[in-house]
Amino acid sequence: MFITFRLITVLVVLPFVLSWHLDFTKEKGASASGLNTLKIRRNSKQGEHFVPKPGVRLLGTPGSSLSLDPYESVTLECEAEGNSSPTIHWLKDGRRINQGDMDGAEVMEDKEVSEGFSRTRSRLYLNCVTAKDEGTYQCASESPYQRVSEKTDLKLTEAGKISGAICRVKQLLGTPARIYMWTRTRIEVQGNDIHLLCRASGNPQPQIVWLRGNKDGERIKNSHKYEVLQNGDLVIRNLSWGDLGGYTCMAQNIHGDEKTLTFVYPAAPESDLK
Ligand SMILES: *[C@@H]1O[C@H](CO)[C@@H](O)[C@H](O)[C@H]1NC(C)=O
Repeated sequence: MFITFRLITVLVVLPFVLSWHLDFTKEKGASASGLNTLKIRRNSKQGEHFVPKPGVRLLGTPGSSLSLDPYESVTLECEAEGNSSPTIHWLKDGRRINQGDMDGAEVMEDKEVSEGFSRTRSRLYLNCVTAKDEGTYQCASESPYQRVSEKTDLKLTEAGKISGAICRVKQLLGTPARIYMWTRTRIEVQGNDIHLLCRASGNPQPQIVWLRGNKDGERIKNSHKYEVLQNGDLVIRNLSWGDLGGYTCMAQNIHGDEKTLTFVYPAAPESDLK
């Protein structure tokens, strides 16, 4: 049983956490509140352990500059990883961009209780760019402890006479459902609740459906175990080993749909590892 658990850990988790490995340690401070703390350590070359501070870091960002033709459409992508569930938002010239009705709806998850680790990905859709879209874009991610961001400068290849009218007509026709923030990987200790992000924009506002497994999986209905929130997120309660695997979020409106896949890994509580 123990060997099997270890094998599954290596086969399933390793591709997701790469150089990171998990160590379950009961911290003195945390045990007072009855919580186990999941620490994520990284081996250094000297064989010593480097224990990163709880926080967040950006993995994939769009790069420092971008040059587009007028009326072109582009999707900027950014990924963050950290303890609990980092959220991502975008700024243009220092101002926060509102991507949809559900943007800014914060994660209700209790940060104190979350012991896990997750990766969140976000996309910024720039449709039909004109002179007003030039500027400095920032991908920013926040955890309760830290805020990190990276910048991308966007310029048009020719700044001559560009008519915004072409773009306005395109927008009037409506926009397809698009997922702009979702959880890619979530590792959490069994027994805790988790909160998987899935935020979508579109005109009209998309409907969100969660499926167990891939896109052919069974539709998840609200129950004592699952809750699909108004903002599109999925709450899974009392995480158990049986919850291991993929979850598909599908956003739909009359102009189109989009799907994303989230991988959930229920880690064993410390007592099971001894
Ligand atoms: C959580 O699930 C376990 C089995 O996986 C069960 O024994 C326990 O009673 C559940 N706890 C709650 C609060 O539902």
